[in-house]
Amino acid sequence: MSLRTKAVFAVLAMLVAGGELASEGTDGVRMSLTPDNLVVVQAGEEVYKAQCASCHGAHLEGQPEWRTRDANGYLPAPPHDATGHTWHHADDLLFEITKYGPAVVINDQSYKTLMPRFEGVLTDKEIVAVLSFIKNTWPEEQRNWQDQVNGTAVNGIKEVPAEKPSLLEKLLK
Ligand code: HEC
Repeated sequence: MSLRTKAVFAVLAMLVAGGELASEGTDGVRMSLTPDNLVVVQAGEEVYKAQCASCHGAHLEGQPEWRTRDANGYLPAPPHDATGHTWHHADDLLFEITKYGPAVVINDQSYKTLMPRFEGVLTDKEIVAVLSFIKNTWPEEQRNWQDQVNGTAVNGIKEVPAEKPSLLEKLLK
């Protein structure tokens, strides 16, 4: 699947997930990750082991069948490595999912999820650190893609660029 197709799926998945998407919209603050600051990344690795690895996996591999809801309507924890879709989302959206939980971010309190809300459990700095650790592990392709998402994100997801018009379409304009 091409990156473009993957992006379309990511956008569709988020839209299907429901309603409004928030980036700095949830709290009015735009957070940025620092995946090249190794002091932050090391601190983040410790937070990851203590708070995230039990669900998202010791090697960020996620849980099996993570795309399929269980009988009670809950999704398993997705991977945070290149095989997942964490890297499709802008820094601030990842921060807000972790701090406030997915239900707040998609503005649907009835949304069923096992992802905890870490507000009050982790400080903002610890959330930035753990997500910076995750981002630090991504291969160049995913890093570059996510950098673009950050640059062009509207509500935390990448705008999918329109197809280039064909010569005929240009002539007809
Ligand atoms: C109790 C299990 C559990 C723990 C612990 C947990 N998560 Fe999650 N996480 C989930 C589940 C389940 C989802 C899928 C969200 C859904 O239900 O739609 C998820 C989704 C996410 C997403 C969204 C990924 C995407 O591609 O949209 C992020 C980001 C995330 N978790 C970060 C973290 C971080 C960072 C930690 C540790 C500080 C953490 N999670 C700890 C279960 C967990």
